[in-house]
Amino acid sequence: MKLTLLHLQAFVSDKQIIHNVSLTLQSGEIHAVMGPNGSGKSTLAYALMAHPSYRVKGKIILNNKEITKYSTEERAKRGIFMALQSPIAIPGVTVINLLRTSYQELHGSTSSPQVQNKRPIQNPLLSRRWKAAKITLSEFTDTLRDHAKALHIDESFLSRGINDGFSGGEKKKMEMLQALTLQPKFAIFDEIDTGLDVDALKTVAYGIESLKKKGVGILIITHYQRILKYLKPDYVHVLVDGKIVKSGKAVLAEKIESEGYDAYR
Ligand SMILES: Nc1ncnc2c1ncn2[C@@H]1O[C@H](COP(=O)(O)OP(=O)(O)OP(=O)(O)O)[C@@H](O)[C@H]1O
Ligand SMILES: [Mg+2]
Repeated sequence: MKLTLLHLQAFVSDKQIIHNVSLTLQSGEIHAVMGPNGSGKSTLAYALMAHPSYRVKGKIILNNKEITKYSTEERAKRGIFMALQSPIAIPGVTVINLLRTSYQELHGSTSSPQVQNKRPIQNPLLSRRWKAAKITLSEFTDTLRDHAKALHIDESFLSRGINDGFSGGEKKKMEMLQALTLQPKFAIFDEIDTGLDVDALKTVAYGIESLKKKGVGILIITHYQRILKYLKPDYVHVLVDGKIVKSGKAVLAEKIESEGYDAYR
């Protein structure tokens, strides 16, 4: 599979923030987008995900299907996932319920449910009929717990409100838990590495690596080469003033780390 941006432009009101960005992300590839503050990295990610604040020109193509006019929900259903730079809290919606419902929406059958969990479940919301096509509810919760364990997220977090009172690093790990659990085809991580301690950084890098192994195409937006020590991007793109001014292999990230962005302004 491939996700292509073709001459993408993004505007807020009449102000153009993204200028003619073209790139193709193939399944199993890691692309890193680097650039100074305010260069348009988050805007690029939002435009890709149809954030309503941004008007977009150009094309977004998933395989051979143009999805430029699709809503955020339609894009998510086609397998595009985005982790936010500043994840929002939704008190009252627990992590497990959010992920269960999202998983059903993305992978469940739309016809009547075929599989129903036979084990008694204490949470009344979980006892609603499960309609995910290929796995049972207990298999889903076991997988969720396994992913949480691998990311060193205590199981108690799963029944807390999503990001409600979570620390900065915990929120970032929660974004990764969502990506691993929801099994997207393409994942965009906007500064997933910001504010992480060294152990959490390795944990998040492990998450990205396991997505790559499953064939997920990954776009990481980052400021630092730090996370790229644990992951080798296939391509690095430098975004300055809303334009890709340079693309190259992993070595480009090292060059930016030592020389900064001045040469590209
Ligand atoms: N909704 C908006 N209204 C007005 N200006 C906006 C809006 N969204 C983005 N911008 C402007 O567009 C520019 C690019 O912002 P963006 O958040 O994409 O930068 P960034 O590269 O992600 O920066 P950072 O590294 O600090 O996260 C900034 O000057 C920002 O103020
Ligand atoms: Mg940003």
